[in-house]
Amino acid sequence: MEPRHYPVMRNEIVDLLRDVPPGWMIDGTVGLGGHALRVLREVPQLCVLGLDMDRNSLKEADRRLAGWQDRVVLLQANYTSCLDLPQVQERSITAVLVDPGISTMQLQDAARGFSHNLDGPLDMRKDQGSGMTAADVVNNWSQEQLTALFREYGEVRRAGELAKRIIEMRLFTPILTTTQLKQVVEKVFGSRFPRGVVHPAARVFQALRICVNHELDGVEAFILRLPEVVKPGGRILFLSFHSLEDRLVKRTLRRLQAEGRATCLQPFPVFPQADELQENPPSHSARLRGAEVA
Ligand SMILES: C[S@@+](CC[C@H](N)C(=O)[O-])C[C@H]1O[C@@H](n2cnc3c(N)ncnc32)[C@H](O)[C@@H]1O
Repeated sequence: MEPRHYPVMRNEIVDLLRDVPPGWMIDGTVGLGGHALRVLREVPQLCVLGLDMDRNSLKEADRRLAGWQDRVVLLQANYTSCLDLPQVQERSITAVLVDPGISTMQLQDAARGFSHNLDGPLDMRKDQGSGMTAADVVNNWSQEQLTALFREYGEVRRAGELAKRIIEMRLFTPILTTTQLKQVVEKVFGSRFPRGVVHPAARVFQALRICVNHELDGVEAFILRLPEVVKPGGRILFLSFHSLEDRLVKRTLRRLQAEGRATCLQPFPVFPQADELQENPPSHSARLRGAEVA
């Protein structure tokens, strides 16, 4: 069955794009094409250059956006390094949207290893064609490196203890699946949690996903270069799903504002409204920040 997909804060995003000058929107994380489709329908002056690192996501976006071929171009690329691509340089860019993290389709595919609720290989790469896997990290990094990773990217409590358990476990057998890793996490934190408490494996998996996909690398440099590429009056919109990412985006947009290169659209992030939280509970961690290029 096709995974149900809710583009996060789609109404707020479309509202913030309604008045941008005509041109192209870089959708840096086109995913399943949900936001792109809303923009194509509701912001007639925009075309969409949709990027994704994940080939499967692009195939899905291509299928969902098939009726809009005259206003859509799709490309496999990492958005953080897209600004020098000819496909960007040759277009008049008036909007940028980034909705990072992973899509429902990626999360629900056990073979990708993103979900601690599904048994699968400990992979977690968004671009399956290259780079290290989560299993490479878990089985090769030192105790100190793993501790720092879980602490910094997952804000995991008792990160040192978890790293120690991982080292002990892998002396017996390599940790190659999501279930094996979850079992180690449960040895440290237990396996029963009250309703509403997030399973600690979620933070551990988040930390590994950020690391494997270099999710925070290049974001600051990308945002700082946007005023070179986006036309005056154009808008930059960033969704974030954890505090590390949001702090980075906030600090960088404020720096652009301090340098007179953009103006932040709001002093505080925008959060999903009650109706969206009800329809799509995982959206609770989302925050939206935006700026208009000077
Ligand atoms: C949350 S989904 C985006 C959903 C999309 N906005 C929609 O409405 O369908 C995130 C997507 O961004 C992709 N992605 C994450 N980081 C990326 C990056 N640095 N460059 C390109 N794609 C990225 C992931 O592969 C995934 O398909």
